[in-house]
Amino acid sequence: RNDRYIVASIRENVGWIRLNRPEVLNALNLQLISELVAVLTEMDRDENVRCMVITGNEKAFAAGADIPEMAEASSVEMLIQDQLAEWDRLRKLTKPLIAAVSGYALGGGCELAMACDLIVASETAVFGQPEILLGVIPGAGGTQRLTRAVGKVRAMEMVLTGRSMTAREALQVGLINRVVPPELLEAEAMNLAKKIAQQPPVAVRLAKQAVLKAMDMTLENGLDYEQKLFYFLFSTEDQKEGMRAFVEKRKPRFQGK
Ligand code: HXC
Repeated sequence: RNDRYIVASIRENVGWIRLNRPEVLNALNLQLISELVAVLTEMDRDENVRCMVITGNEKAFAAGADIPEMAEASSVEMLIQDQLAEWDRLRKLTKPLIAAVSGYALGGGCELAMACDLIVASETAVFGQPEILLGVIPGAGGTQRLTRAVGKVRAMEMVLTGRSMTAREALQVGLINRVVPPELLEAEAMNLAKKIAQQPPVAVRLAKQAVLKAMDMTLENGLDYEQKLFYFLFSTEDQKEGMRAFVEKRKPRFQGK
C-alpha cells in the first residue's frame, strides 16, 4: 500500500490502522477517509484478519472533518462530491471494528468512533459534536448514532450546544466500553481485539450483524432475524467443534468454517 495519511499493519490476526495526520489533529480530509475505507475493505476480505482497530495519536483520535477543505464548498459541490458515500462503506464491513481513542474525537472523529463496534478510550479522550459552532450539524451519523448510544436528551445537549464529554462521562452514559490510562490504551485495545480474533469467525460475523440489526429493527423482526442466524450456525463446523469440545472438556479449535 502507498498510503499518505494512515499507517496499516496486521499482527496476531488483528488489523491495526493508525490515522496519521498529526499536524492537524488527524483532520479527516477526503484522501484520509478514502485510504481508511480502502484498507478496511481490504482487511475485511483478508482471512488473516479477524478484527480491526482504528487509532490516532495521544493528542487526537481525529478532530473532525477537514474544515478548510469544505469551508467554501457549495451545496451542489458537496452533493456531487458526496464524501459521505465513502463513510457509508464502513457499514458494509463484516468484521468487528474497535476504536482506540486518545485525545480529541470531535465531529467526524466522534462519528468515526461511533461507527466502530466497540470503543476503548484513554482518560484524556474527549468526545463531541461541535458542528453547530461551525453553522452545520453532524453529517456522518452523529445525530443518529449518538442518540441511540446515549439517549435523546444527552444527544440533544451535545448536538445543540457543541459541548463535549470526557472519557469518564462517556463511560458513564454508555457511549464507550472502557477507560484506561493513556499509556495502556493500545495494549487494552489489542487485548480486546485478540480476544475477538480467537472466537469462531462465522459466529462473530453473524453476531455483529445481529447486534447492528437491533439498532434499526422492531423487537419482533430482530428476534426473528436472530433465530434464523442462530439456526444457520448449526451448519458450521465451528459449532460442532465448539459444542463437542465443551462436552469432551477440552479447548475448541475453530477453523472459520
Ligand atoms: C482542519 C484542523 C481541524 C479540523 C484542528 N485542526 N482541527 N484542521 N480540520 N477539523 C488544525 C488546526 O487548524 C491547527 O493547525 C492544528 O490542527 C492544531 O489545532 P489547534 O486548534 O491549534 O489546537 P488546540 O488549540 O489544541 O485546539 C484543539 C481543538 C481545535 C479544540 C480540537 O483544533 C478545534 O476546535 N478543532 C475543530 C474541531 C471541530 O469543529 N470539528 C468538527 C469539524 S466538522 P495550524 O495549521 O493552525 O497549526 C465535522 C463534520 C463531519 O467533523 C461530517 C462528516 C464528513
